[in-house]
Amino acid sequence: MVPSATLHSSTSCARLPALRFITCGSVDDGKSTLIGRLLYDAKCIFDDQMQALAKDSTEYGTQGENLDFALMVDGLQAERAQGITIDVAYRFFQTDKRKFIVADTPGHEQYTRNMATGASTAELAVILVDARKGVLTQTQRHSRIVAMMGIRHIVLAINKMDLVDFDETVFQSIEAAYREFAAGLNFASLQAIPLSAIGGDNVFTASLQTPWYCGPAMADYLNAVDPSGTTLHGNPPTAMRMPVQCILRPHQNFRGVAGRIACGELMAGDSVRILPGNRSATVKEIYIGERHAAIARAGDSIALTLNDDVDVSRGDVIAAPTNMPEVADQFAARLIWMSDHPLMPGRPYLLKLHCKEVTATVTEIKYRIAIDTGAELAADTLAINEMAAVNLSLSQPVVFEPYAQNRILGGFILIDKLTFDTVGAGTIEFALRRSANIYWQELEINQSARALMKQQTARCIWFTGLSGAGKSTIANLLEKRLHAEGRHTYILDGDNVRHGLNRDLGFTEADRVENIRRIAEVAKLMADAGLIVIVSFISPYRAERRLARSLFAEGEFLEVFVDAPLAECERRDAKGLYAKARRGELKNFTGIDSDYEVPETPEIHLDTARMNAETCAALIAQNLG
Ligand code: ADX
Repeated sequence: MVPSATLHSSTSCARLPALRFITCGSVDDGKSTLIGRLLYDAKCIFDDQMQALAKDSTEYGTQGENLDFALMVDGLQAERAQGITIDVAYRFFQTDKRKFIVADTPGHEQYTRNMATGASTAELAVILVDARKGVLTQTQRHSRIVAMMGIRHIVLAINKMDLVDFDETVFQSIEAAYREFAAGLNFASLQAIPLSAIGGDNVFTASLQTPWYCGPAMADYLNAVDPSGTTLHGNPPTAMRMPVQCILRPHQNFRGVAGRIACGELMAGDSVRILPGNRSATVKEIYIGERHAAIARAGDSIALTLNDDVDVSRGDVIAAPTNMPEVADQFAARLIWMSDHPLMPGRPYLLKLHCKEVTATVTEIKYRIAIDTGAELAADTLAINEMAAVNLSLSQPVVFEPYAQNRILGGFILIDKLTFDTVGAGTIEFALRRSANIYWQELEINQSARALMKQQTARCIWFTGLSGAGKSTIANLLEKRLHAEGRHTYILDGDNVRHGLNRDLGFTEADRVENIRRIAEVAKLMADAGLIVIVSFISPYRAERRLARSLFAEGEFLEVFVDAPLAECERRDAKGLYAKARRGELKNFTGIDSDYEVPETPEIHLDTARMNAETCAALIAQNLG
């Protein structure tokens, strides 16, 4: 028989304080069962859910009264079929003391990103451990992520105690191992609880099976725990901040600024500052939905109007004038990498911080953090699930606060510029002031003056293509042609530059990214000197070619794809390098065991298998006008 259960009426509990927590565990630790059990024992399951659950339990082989609680929370059929949970699901339940919002996040390694998302708003984490397995690498990774995301209260749920005969020594040794591991993680509280989620032991009521355990059952603990001090510096900030989501202009006479209050309170008539421009304004009206409101509080989504006609745009932050967030374009940060494709320092990514999106590069990986010991290890790149302390440089200043003080203004994600996948999540530690006092020196003699004296327009002609495609040959012919016409030119060639400026770089992906970054900067300086710069590098990655292009004005940069089939390049093999690569004597050779990303929209596309080098050079010269 399935016991009938009803949901507590939400109105009767509406004013209860809420606790947000996240559950982290491996696929088989029984996480979904624990959440199911909490919901069931809190009587937060509708009758129709119970019936579906009873049906499902039979379908999936669990019979009779022994309901499979995991089925209730693992909503998706596909998840069940695979036996894993995907995405973050938020569950709600309540007791007579509190409401609970549970971020149920997958334990599988590839879903770290969901965990970081769930953790960023939680005040407490339930870390699940299978009593038979103890503390695993996964447990350590989850704990480091929740620590980085600012969670300071931990429940160590040692589950499946029934499978170790409720043995006290098993519980104690797991708790001791975890406490030793977590010592450096700065948690404010840590409560270990022996559980059998399936049987309900110590979930809502003290279990008779664990007479040796004097602590609270899980629900009692969650009812009583004080989650204050969630940020590392104490309680959430109280000074008002509102990141601007968008400007509302339904008609000529109304200009509203929409956003969600991140912290503090805002009243009509308040003076505010708009950052990063640091403009002053006073709030005229506040709307919550369609209604006027006298006051808005943290978490409220509002639209406001201002008395003053000041510039405001998406990504600005409206703040209390007496206590303002900071503005900077370089940061020290913690980062978790979430993409199968490693992090490349120097490569441009999109950084999203509250409502602001800017281009950002990791300028330095200071160290990678070992998941198990927390040791600081040297690293050139980051692989999926790795964590590191890094420095970041942004294309423009943003409004922020250190994550330890304000999660909303200090937490960011990195997005791949080509695929728009989220590739990293990070927390800002502090601003680097290194660039604050360095200004671009405006010189009286500028690029146009220099180019004019040479009677030419400065350009960057960027050759890209496989080794042996004909880049150097065509570049050489083009320069001869331009030289004969009296133009002032310079060739930056891969093989030559790698003898000097870039002699410290090899052919790993990270080194090639840095190679091209430096060359793009040098080409930029040369164009600034008024020269026609011909750049001839394999430059295999779209992201860096795009970065190079972004340094130049519209029309100044010409991408030339020197194209020949790999087989043809290999047949030419002027330097014998393809043969070496095929014999395995040369690693990371482009086209063989290293990628070449074909240009999508080059200004000029040359097929060198069909056209001779002279014709190619002439075609480019024609394009220069
Ligand atoms: S890039 O990929 O970073 O743009 P770059 O153009 O500087 O490469 O250098 C390519 C030249 O280095 C090739 O023309 C070739 O002579 C030489 N080389 C040596 N090792 C490799 C390799 N593993 N892959 C490609 N080129 C290599």
